[in-house]
Amino acid sequence: MDAVIKFTSQSQGRDRIFRATQYACALAIYLLRNHSERKDLVAKLKSLEAHMSAGRKLFRLGNTANSIEAAKRTMQLSDRVLSLCLTVANINRALYFFCDNVLWARSVGLIRNIDKERWSVNASRCYFFSLVMNLTRDVYVVLRLMLQKARDKRCRQKMDQHLSESPEVAEAVIPQLDAFIFLLLESLKSDPALALDTLKNICDLFIPLDKLGIYQSHGGVIGFCGLMSSLIGIVTLARPTLRIKP
Ligand SMILES: *[C@@H]1O[C@H](CO)[C@@H](O)[C@H](O)[C@H]1NC(C)=O
Repeated sequence: MDAVIKFTSQSQGRDRIFRATQYACALAIYLLRNHSERKDLVAKLKSLEAHMSAGRKLFRLGNTANSIEAAKRTMQLSDRVLSLCLTVANINRALYFFCDNVLWARSVGLIRNIDKERWSVNASRCYFFSLVMNLTRDVYVVLRLMLQKARDKRCRQKMDQHLSESPEVAEAVIPQLDAFIFLLLESLKSDPALALDTLKNICDLFIPLDKLGIYQSHGGVIGFCGLMSSLIGIVTLARPTLRIKP
């Protein structure tokens, strides 16, 4: 089992590059949709996109075990809220990969008698819940940081100065809102890993929202958000200090 987990964590980099390519194709296809003279290119991009998506499914075969291991670890976190959010997120992620593996097995003909549509919706649902729990974690950590900053003397002075320097802003907008935004920006600035993770999860959210029909967006939005989140994923893999912990 350890070997499986080790291998799949190494293949994360490859998955992210494939994912970035997949969504870059989706974005390019959207941008070229009205250029009839580019039909050939669009056809090539579509085929590349499909290959990337299929290739990623094969590499993800060990990820269910990986997510279960992660859930076991996050269950032991001392912060109850963090522990709950991350454990539920990881369990949903494990279920998502399981559905994904079943869909892969069907696509290569290993199993036949399953309802593809239903498994696909279930996969999106699990992915969606995992993302929502991840975002809840981000919001919780941001709020905790903001409270900390509000109590911090130096930060309070900076805030008072900022508010008095731009009185027209403070008058036009509700002062509390201005203070809230100031604290929010200060918190995100002080923890880039948290800011990146939040942005990544928000970008990712559009994909299952669209698939589940909760919020329909067009191909351009999906391509752009997917590409952004994949690029953030690559950056955090290359620079572990930018990776949110735990
Ligand atoms: C949720 O966060 C964990 C830990 O940061 C991460 O491993 C996982 O990929 C995230 N889930 C999704 C669906 O992005």
